[in-house]
Amino acid sequence: MTHPPTTSRGTDLQQAARDHLWMHFTRQGAYEDGARVPVIVRGEGHRIWDDTGKEYIDGLAGLFVVQVGHGRKELSEAAARQAEQLAFFPLWSYAHPAAIELAERLAAGAPGDLDHVFFTTGGGEAVESAWKLAKQYFKLTGKPHKHKVISRAVAYHGTPQGALSITGLPPLKADFEPLVPGAHKVPNTNIYRAAEDLRDDPKAFGRWAADRIAEAIEFEGPETVAAVFLEPVQNAGGCFPPPPGYFERVREICDEYDVLLVSDEVICAFGRIGSMFASTDFGYTPDIITCAKGMTSGYSPLGAMIASDRLFEPYRTGTTSFLHGYTFGGHPVSSTVALANLDIFEREGLNEHVRTNAPAFRRTLERLLDLPLVGDVRGEGYFYGIELVKDKDTRETFAEAEAERMLRGYLDKALFEAGLYCRADDRGDPVIQLAPPLTIGQAEFDDIEQRLRAVLSEAEKHL
Ligand SMILES: Cc1ncc(COP(=O)(O)O)c(C=O)c1O
Repeated sequence: MTHPPTTSRGTDLQQAARDHLWMHFTRQGAYEDGARVPVIVRGEGHRIWDDTGKEYIDGLAGLFVVQVGHGRKELSEAAARQAEQLAFFPLWSYAHPAAIELAERLAAGAPGDLDHVFFTTGGGEAVESAWKLAKQYFKLTGKPHKHKVISRAVAYHGTPQGALSITGLPPLKADFEPLVPGAHKVPNTNIYRAAEDLRDDPKAFGRWAADRIAEAIEFEGPETVAAVFLEPVQNAGGCFPPPPGYFERVREICDEYDVLLVSDEVICAFGRIGSMFASTDFGYTPDIITCAKGMTSGYSPLGAMIASDRLFEPYRTGTTSFLHGYTFGGHPVSSTVALANLDIFEREGLNEHVRTNAPAFRRTLERLLDLPLVGDVRGEGYFYGIELVKDKDTRETFAEAEAERMLRGYLDKALFEAGLYCRADDRGDPVIQLAPPLTIGQAEFDDIEQRLRAVLSEAEKHL
C-alpha cells in the first residue's frame, strides 16, 4: 500500500472514503470535518492492522464472524479453486456439489430432524426466510390464520423489513415504519435487570421470562401465532444467556400452542458457544435454526435456514414450492469455503477449545468487576458483555447524554487507540461486547483484560 494510501485513481484513501463510501449503521457526519475513517487493511490470526500500520486485537472477530481467525490461506485457496471450476450457479431448480455437500453436513450437525437447508447470503435473509416459511407452512396445513411472531425486547434480528419487525429495538425501526405487522415482543432474559425478587433465583426468573411467551400467545390468540424467534444467547443489550430451564419451558409452550420455535443462531452457531449449533449447547431442539456469520468465518458471505422434517413435509411431494430465493444464496464459492472452514473446526478441535477455555476467559474478564464502572460481566463460550453502570450498588445506569459522552465521546475511540477492536454498544444499557476468534487462549484473555482495564479506569473522567 502506498503512503499516504491512495485509491487506484490516485485519490487519498481517507478522502475517497469520506466522499463515496456509505458505511453501515454509521454517523457519516463524524468524518465530515476530516476525522480519520478507521481503515483496516490486513488480518492475521486474532490480529488486524490499519492503514497507518497500527496493530489491534480483533476482539469482535470482525462482527462475530471470523471464528478461525484471519489470514487462513486454505480458505482463500478453496475459494479460488471453486471459482475456477464453477464460479456461479444458482439453486433455482438446479444444484451444485458444494451446496449439496454443505447441506448434508449442516443437517448432520443440527439437532433433531432439522435436515433441510435453505441457503441465503446472510443472517437477516435467513430470519426473513424463516418467517415466510412459518406463514406458508401453516397455510398449507390448515391453520391459515397463524402468521404472527413473538420475539424479545432489545433483540436484533436483521434489517430486511420482516426481520426488522422481529427486532426489538424501537429506535432502529421508527424511521422505517410501517413495517411488517404482527410482530409482538416479550421480556428478554436480562437477569441483571430483573425484578428484585427474581434476581437471585435464576430458575424462577427463567420460568417467569418463558411464561411471558405463553402470555403473549394467549393475548394474541394461539390460532394467530406462527413462531417465536429467540437467540440462544441474546446479543443486543449485552449478552443475555438463557437462565436454567428457560428453553425447556419455551419448548413446552411452543408445543402446547403449536407455535414454531426459531433459534436465531446467526451469532451463536459455529463454535461461538462451543458446539456447531448453540441449541445443542443449551439442550433444546428448535423447529428452525437461522445461521450465517461464522459458517464461512467471513471468507465469503453465506447464511442458512435449517428446517425440520415436519416443515419440509408439505413440499416433499406434489406441486407445492416455497416461492422464495436469493440469486447468491448457497453461492458455490461460499459453500466451498464453508466446507473448508468446518474442516478447520474439526482438525483443530475448535469447539472443544472453546468449551475448555471459556471458564478461564470469563474468570479473566471478571477481574474487571473491581472497577467502579463495571456492573456486570456475563455471557457464555467466547461471547461476553461487560455492562457499565453509574452506581454498582443500585445498578443505576447512565442518562442518555452521559452514555453518549462516555461511549461515543470516549470509549469507542479509547479502546481503538488502546489497540482493542471491540464494540461499545448502547442499544440497551451501555455494554462492551467481546466475541474474539475462537483460537485464542489465556495470553490473549490477559491482554484483552489489561487493555480494557486501562481504558475503563479513565472512563469516569469522561462522564
Ligand atoms: C441474531 C442475529 N440475527 C440476524 C442478524 C442479521 O444478520 P446479517 O447482518 O447477516 O443480515 C444478526 C446480525 O448481527 C444477528 O446478530
